Amino acid sequence: MESATGSSPAKAQTGATRAPSRGNPAMDQPSQGEPYLLTPGPLTTALSTKQAMLRDWGSWDGDFRAMTAHLRGRLLDIAGDEAGEYDCVPLQGSGSYCVEAMLGSLVPRDGHALVLANGAYGKRIATTLRYLGRAHTVLDKGDYLPPRAAEVERMLDADASITHVVAVHCETSSGILNPIEEIAAVTAAKGRKLLIDSMSAFGAVPLDVRNIACEAFVSSANKCIEGVPGFGFVIARKSALEDARGRSHSLALDVHDQWDVMNRTGQWRFTPPTHTVAAFIEALRLHELEGGQPARLARYANNRDVLVAGMHELGFEPLLNARWRSPIIVTFFSPAHPSFSFERFYELMKQQGFIIYPGKLTVVESFRIGCIGQVDEHVMRRVVKACAGSLRTMGVNHAAPPAAAIEERKVLAEAA
Ligand SMILES: Cc1ncc(COP(=O)(O)O)c(C=O)c1O
Repeated sequence: MESATGSSPAKAQTGATRAPSRGNPAMDQPSQGEPYLLTPGPLTTALSTKQAMLRDWGSWDGDFRAMTAHLRGRLLDIAGDEAGEYDCVPLQGSGSYCVEAMLGSLVPRDGHALVLANGAYGKRIATTLRYLGRAHTVLDKGDYLPPRAAEVERMLDADASITHVVAVHCETSSGILNPIEEIAAVTAAKGRKLLIDSMSAFGAVPLDVRNIACEAFVSSANKCIEGVPGFGFVIARKSALEDARGRSHSLALDVHDQWDVMNRTGQWRFTPPTHTVAAFIEALRLHELEGGQPARLARYANNRDVLVAGMHELGFEPLLNARWRSPIIVTFFSPAHPSFSFERFYELMKQQGFIIYPGKLTVVESFRIGCIGQVDEHVMRRVVKACAGSLRTMGVNHAAPPAAAIEERKVLAEAA
């Protein structure tokens, strides 16, 4: 592949001389015969994305600096930053490193954050703020109820000391797509600043800074852009990045310093994940080739719809109704049948080539199936077939959930 062996970064970036543009690319099978990862990152990547990691890059070299500049620019394009008000700061580590870096750099030491939590990642934001010693208040909606504008408004009205609202875009622990537009609107109307954890959503779910007023958001390489793990990125207003000077508790997680050094030298401050960056450049090329964010959203949404319809036929019920169900990952209630065991189900699915995810609900048993990565509706149909086969092997003749699960679901219908 050009990006794996070519000497010019321009080739790696544009794929100008590479093989055939595929329009709506056919999905590669996992190249080593490994199972599909139906998990929301790491996820199944394209063969050419993996192949882009076959050559080594000097971190100081101009070719690699050009790759860094390219990925920063492309991410700003996807974010809709036409006005040049934002900048993109890639940072080594997993997504949580970027969340922590964003919070430690953009929430002032005397600031006060309102955290909108409805699952594990919202709770992690609160924990991170506690570690950082930043004042915070948590609106905790439990496992999956969405935070709504009216309650955010009430909390902002009640406490003038709140400076920032921190929201999770897609709460991956349940798969709910939180109403980020209304949260952004009320936060702006109340003169507060919005920070978004868009880890599992950006690149597929629209997050356009022209429509969603935010101070900053984060995502990472191994989510909807379909790269491999190793770095994340903070996209923030330049004014916020300026203001962050000297604020971070941590050198390694100082977003201002990373930004400043990157802008002055083109380099990452410390050893960059060179191979991950090369893979990401290829993943970005494929993202664009597919038709960018709208096309990716359409494929993932179709994956979800094919999955949910097929699972429904087997008797499975999703946790969330269609209004809140993200195109990223779907939570299904575990069947009530006494012969169902998630551990056995997981192993049987793996034997058939699919890795799924345990659930994270605290009230009822559940499991999750991801819709993102190099998978399409054909793969999703095979997933459903594999679920049917696994149930048969376990002697489960119907996948209907316990009554308690359906009761639980009514709570959502009534509350949201
Ligand atoms: C919404 C959200 N936030 C944060 C994270 C944490 O990212 P990481 O596991 O890469 O640290 C994830 C991971 O899936 C996520 O989905």
